[in-house]
Parts: sequence; structure tokens; C-alpha cells
Amino acid sequence: NRRVTVRDLAAAKQRGEKWAMLTAYDALTAGVFDEAGIPVLLVGDSAGNCHLGYETTVPVTMDQMVMLSAAVVRGTRRSMIVADLPFGSYQESPAQAMHNAARLMKDAGVGAVKLEGGERSARSIELLVEAGIPVMAHIGLTPQSVHAFGGYPVQGRGDEAAHQLLRDAKAVQQAGAFAVVLEAVPAELAAQVTEQLAIPTVGIGGGPDTDAQVLVWTDMAGMTAGRVPKFVKQYANLRAVLGDAAREFAEDVRGGAFPAEEHSFH
Ligand code: KIV
Ligand code: NA
Repeated sequence: NRRVTVRDLAAAKQRGEKWAMLTAYDALTAGVFDEAGIPVLLVGDSAGNCHLGYETTVPVTMDQMVMLSAAVVRGTRRSMIVADLPFGSYQESPAQAMHNAARLMKDAGVGAVKLEGGERSARSIELLVEAGIPVMAHIGLTPQSVHAFGGYPVQGRGDEAAHQLLRDAKAVQQAGAFAVVLEAVPAELAAQVTEQLAIPTVGIGGGPDTDAQVLVWTDMAGMTAGRVPKFVKQYANLRAVLGDAAREFAEDVRGGAFPAEEHSFH
């Protein structure tokens, strides 16, 4: 069985077929999503806040991304694996982007990389694509800029911001990106970008009209502690299920119900 490729995703846009993407940070979870038929898995730098316990994605390092990405590749067979270039690993120069994207492909075995930024990242995207690296772009709300944004505000509101988002979308397509994530933008604007681009758009907080949808898996499955953003739908309540299992196990141990005869050797 071969993995999903960029050609499969281009063909899906031609046919008007929508597809789903989820994040994954380890082999076990990635294997579940691979078996569930999720065509594209993103080793997001959201690992920072969703897997590694940081406040934001900013502290995530290349070494961490290589380790997590390699695990996701090992745990899967069919899904295309896309890995994020973390903050500070590509902004310096196209050469730096090339060096670190190559690491993710050679040391972790991913099939594509993702980086944040529209016009500002176009030269790097171009160099990577020329070198044979499939690149997914990411515009709108780019979480690595959280400190510049002063939080995670919706992007592209107002004429000027909307025009900039369209310019960013066209710049990454022109640079050769095979898809572009649109994060936290008004649904009408995401629909407009989707219609004007030949490459697939992947929405997160971008309304219903993008070509694909991505969610952070811990949000999607109800693993996240506390509030989740407005654009998240929780398809399970894993945090409660897992917590109940742990409490029941501890209770059984305290009460002597576990281990029972059938769990014991003689
Ligand atoms: O890191 C991540 O999870 C992402 C997605 C939300 C697109 O970049
Ligand atoms: Na990310």
C-alpha cells in the first residue's frame, strides 16, 4: 500500500472532494488515524502546547520535531505525513529553511513540510519546491507570531487585511506550495481564497468552504483540558474516558479487586 501523495490531493480538488487532516505527535495515535483513513497527518508544532506542555508553539525545537515526526512516520502506512518547521528554523534565510526541511525528510522520513507565512516566506517555499520538497503553506493566524499578534485574533477582517490574505495565498501558490492552511479567517474570505486558488485550501476556523479541514487531534477527541476554540468540534470525550479508567484502576488496587486470579501466574 502506497502513501497518499500531493497528486492525490490535487486530484481531489479537481473532483471537488473534501478531505480531513489531523495532527499527530506519536506513533500510537498516528496509527489509529492512519487506520481510520485520514489521508494527511500533520506533525504540528502545536506539539508545543498540545503534547509537550509549553504555553505556545514558540519553544519547539528542530530536534523535538524530528523525534516526533519519526515516530509518526513509523506508526503509519497510508497517510501522507507533513511536519511543521518550528519557530526559528526557517525565518533566517531560504538556505536555513532548506537545511531544516531536508532534516525532516532525511532523519524523520516525512513526505512534506509546512511553514508559516505568505509573501514573507515565498522565497523559501520556492527554494524547497525546486529541491523536490513538497511544501504546505500556512497563512492567516500564524501561531508562531503569537507575541506579535498579542494573542490569537481572527485574521483578514476588513478590506486591507482581506486583500493581504489574498496576496499571501497567491504568493504561496506561485512559489509552488501544494496546499495552504487558512487559520482563523472569516468564512466568506476563506471561500473566496479557495475559489481563486488552484491548490487545495485547508481550513481551521475558516468556515465550511475550504477544500479540506484540519483539527488538532487533542481538541477533536476531547483530550484538551479546559476551553477549546470556537471552531473546534469535539467528536469524543477522551479526557473523561481516560480519567475514569485511571481512577477505576487505582480504586481496584486500593480495594484489592486488581489483580484477580485470571491476571496472576502460578
Ligand atoms: O501546528 C498545528 O497544529 C497547525 C495546524 C493547526 C494547522 O499548524
Ligand atoms: Na503549526
